[in-house]
Amino acid sequence: MDGLARILFGHAAFQYFNAACELGLYEVLKEKPDLTRPEIADELGLAERANDILLLGATSLGTLTLRDGRYRLARIIDDLMETPDWQRLKDTVAFEQYIVYPGQFDFTASLRTNRNVGLRSIPGTGRDLYHRLSENRNLEKIFYRYMRSWSELANRHLVEVLDLSGARRLLDCGGGDAVNAIALARAHEHLEITVLEIAPTAPMTEKKVAEAGLGGRISVLAADMHHDPFPTGFDTVLFAHQLVIWTPEENTRLLRRAYRALPDGGRVVVFNSMSNDEGDGPVVAALDSVYFAALPAEGGMIYSWATHENCLREGGFRSVERIPLPGWTPHGVIIATK
Ligand SMILES: C[S@@+](CC[C@H](N)C(=O)[O-])C[C@H]1O[C@@H](n2cnc3c(N)ncnc32)[C@H](O)[C@@H]1O
Repeated sequence: MDGLARILFGHAAFQYFNAACELGLYEVLKEKPDLTRPEIADELGLAERANDILLLGATSLGTLTLRDGRYRLARIIDDLMETPDWQRLKDTVAFEQYIVYPGQFDFTASLRTNRNVGLRSIPGTGRDLYHRLSENRNLEKIFYRYMRSWSELANRHLVEVLDLSGARRLLDCGGGDAVNAIALARAHEHLEITVLEIAPTAPMTEKKVAEAGLGGRISVLAADMHHDPFPTGFDTVLFAHQLVIWTPEENTRLLRRAYRALPDGGRVVVFNSMSNDEGDGPVVAALDSVYFAALPAEGGMIYSWATHENCLREGGFRSVERIPLPGWTPHGVIIATK
């Protein structure tokens, strides 16, 4: 029953983690290990009962240890806090709390109707989550902070495995705040990059590129990748965390548009989480799919490698290479050549 009970109360486990992050519990114990229960209550400004609840959860879930009445960080938290990945994890926690949680309430309805019913949790009139973010500035900040962090958890590996020595002009299609464009531009000084983004988001992208001091090599194109003419003059088209949003039919259409716009030898690069071809894991791919089913747009999930490869072949590509990436997120890269 233990495994089943953890599923039953999975939402509560997350709420403990979110509260501990928001209240600064881990930062307090990083700075001052071996505090007692009343000392922690004092540091956090919590009443005794509230502090007891928080410590019961944080300890029993394995994020703290308790010995002789004194609390310490669990090794995994302590080690993570030594790295920039700790902030990235906290950015992901905030995204789960303020964007995914309200929307996933409609998961069953989304499965029943095969539509993203959970979009109703995001105020506004935009046709999808991305067109509503600019109508909710606070959610927009939470989303792009998370998106940057989620990309950074894996794009160090993208930079390693993607040989761009022969590339000259790369289109980052739906490039968000240019997090991947900036990483690739820094790794390849000869490369010129254009980030294509929807008009409401493009000014934020431009600001991030300017802050990175890369305005000379990264430009921003405000356009709709589905409906506007697909840009030409590029030898590489990157879809980063993009083909998890749309239906396979929409992905095939997008990939066909990219195929037609590329010269012979041009490449499409798909970079996002992947599920396995058997359809039984990994579990993070399954858990992340609840969000894609319920919220951002009508289609989408963490598709299998084979699903992406089929879309690429139907889009016209013949040579397709898959590259699984290391790390706890199920990220992978697929490179297809025209
Ligand atoms: C999941 S985010 C990925 C951002 C970035 N590629 C990354 O990996 O961090 C998807 C991005 O695609 C953009 N997008 C959505 N629909 C689009 C469209 N029709 N045309 C252009 N961009 C779009 C969104 O505004 C958003 O920034």
